[in-house]
Amino acid sequence: MNAGPPHPDPARVEDVPGHANLVIVANRLPVDQVTAPDGSLTWRRSPGGLVSALEPVMRSHDGAWIGWPGVESAEPDGDPFQVDGLTLVPINLNAAEIEGFYEGFSNGTLWPLYHDLVAKPEFHREWWEAYVEVNQRFAVKTAEVAAPDATVWVHDYQLQLVPAMLRELRPDLQIGFFLHIPFPPTELFGQLPWRRQLLEGLLGADLVGFQLSGGAHNFVRLVKQRVGHHTEGNSVHLPDGRVSRAAAFPISIDVGAFQALAESPSVIARAAEIRVALGNPKQVLLGIDRLDYTKGIYPRLRAYSELLAEGHFNVTDTVFVQVATPSRERVEQYRLLRDDVDRLVGRINGDLGQIGSPAIAYLHSSYPQHEMAALYLAADIMVVTPYRDGMNLVAKEYVACRLDNDGALVLSEFAGAAAEFRQAWQVNPYDIDGMKAAILAAVQSPPEERARRMAAMRRYLHGNDVSHWAASFLAAL
Ligand code: F6P
Repeated sequence: MNAGPPHPDPARVEDVPGHANLVIVANRLPVDQVTAPDGSLTWRRSPGGLVSALEPVMRSHDGAWIGWPGVESAEPDGDPFQVDGLTLVPINLNAAEIEGFYEGFSNGTLWPLYHDLVAKPEFHREWWEAYVEVNQRFAVKTAEVAAPDATVWVHDYQLQLVPAMLRELRPDLQIGFFLHIPFPPTELFGQLPWRRQLLEGLLGADLVGFQLSGGAHNFVRLVKQRVGHHTEGNSVHLPDGRVSRAAAFPISIDVGAFQALAESPSVIARAAEIRVALGNPKQVLLGIDRLDYTKGIYPRLRAYSELLAEGHFNVTDTVFVQVATPSRERVEQYRLLRDDVDRLVGRINGDLGQIGSPAIAYLHSSYPQHEMAALYLAADIMVVTPYRDGMNLVAKEYVACRLDNDGALVLSEFAGAAAEFRQAWQVNPYDIDGMKAAILAAVQSPPEERARRMAAMRRYLHGNDVSHWAASFLAAL
C-alpha cells in the first residue's frame, strides 16, 4: 500500500511547529472539485453547517482544516491551499486506502456497528490496518500544522485513533473530538476486535463530544469496563494524571442561512413551480435522505403505499416525493439498497400510479441548498424515518424553512433530533402500522395543531443553531 508521503520524524515535528491556532481535522475537506469554465479542475466550497459555523473562529485564529479532498490520488499530499480565505490542508488517499480505510473499516465495519447493526458489519484485519495507517497520517499532518498550544478539533468515526496519536506527537495541544454518528450500546461495541484501541484512541482527547448523553455514558462505561481507568461521572482519570471528559453536544444547522433561503423570492417561486410540476396536488409528502440503509427509506415507502392501497390517499391529489442522494456507491450494501429501493418504487408506481400521477416521485440525485429549501417549502409533510441516526439535519432544515409555522414533521424516535423535537409526530420505523397511523394523523391534523407544534420546534431551533453548538464545544474544551 502506498501510505502517502514519508512521515516526518515526531521529534522534528515538535521542533518546528506550524502556525494554525485552531485545526479542524475531518475525513473530508469542506470543498468539492468542480470543472471551471475553461475546463480546468478547481475547488468550490461545499455548503455545510459545520464549515459556516467554524468559519468565523477559523479566520480569527489562523485556522486550518485538514481532510481528504474526496478524490482518489496516489500523489503525495499537496501543499495547503486557500478557498474563500480558508486554509485547507489535503490528505490524499490512494485506491488501497480508500478501499481499506474509507469503504472498508469506516463504512463497512464502524458505520453499521455504530448504527445498531442495521446492516451486518464486517471485521477484516486488513481494513483495520489501513484505518490505523490513515489515522496516523492525519495525526502526523496535524502535528505539523498546529501552532504551539493550539486547539485541535477532530471529527467523526473515521478518525477515532487520531486524538491519542496526536497527543503522543504533540502533548502541548488541546484536543477535542466529536462523534457525529451514534455511539453504540456497550454490548455492540464489545463485538469489535479492536475495541480497546479505539477507546484508547478517543481518550487522547481532553473532551469527547457525542450527539446524545446516552453516547457519553456508554463511552465512559466502556472505558471503565474494557480499559480499566477510574471514572467519576463523565470524567475519566488517566494514569498520567490527565482527565478526559465526555459530554453531549447535539449538533444543529445554520438556521439563519436556511431561513434566508426560505424567504428569498426565487426559492418561493421555485417551490410554487415544483407544486405545479407535481400536478398541483392537495398534499405533498417529502423524504430527503442520503441513500443509506440506516435511513429507513424502504419501510417509509411501504407504509405510504399501504395507505394508498387502503384508499386513505389518492394519487391524483397526493404525491410522495422521495429524494435519495447517491452515497458510498462502491460499498456493496449501498448497491444492494439501491436495487431494493428501485424495485420497490417501480412496484408501487406500477401497481398504484396513474398516467400523469405517479404514487412516488423518486429522484436519485443530489441538489444544491436552494433547491432543497424549495422542496421543504413545497412539502406539507416531511417524513424522516431512520432506523438509527446520530442527529438528522434534514429534519432541522425543514423546520428552519417553515417560516409560517405550517407543515408537519413525522420523525423517527431513533434519530438524535427526536430528543429535541418532542412536538414532531414521532414514530418507530420498525412498526409499519404505527408509521401509517402517524402519517395519517399528521396529514389530518388541524392547522392550529400543526402551527403549535411547528412554532415550538422553531423556537427551540432558534436558540440552538450550529454556531451555538460549535461555541459550546470549544468553550467546554
Ligand atoms: O453523518 C456522517 C457523515 O460522515 C457526514 O459527516 C457526511 O456528510 C456523511 O456522513 C456522508 O458521508 P461520506 O463522507 O462517506 O460521503
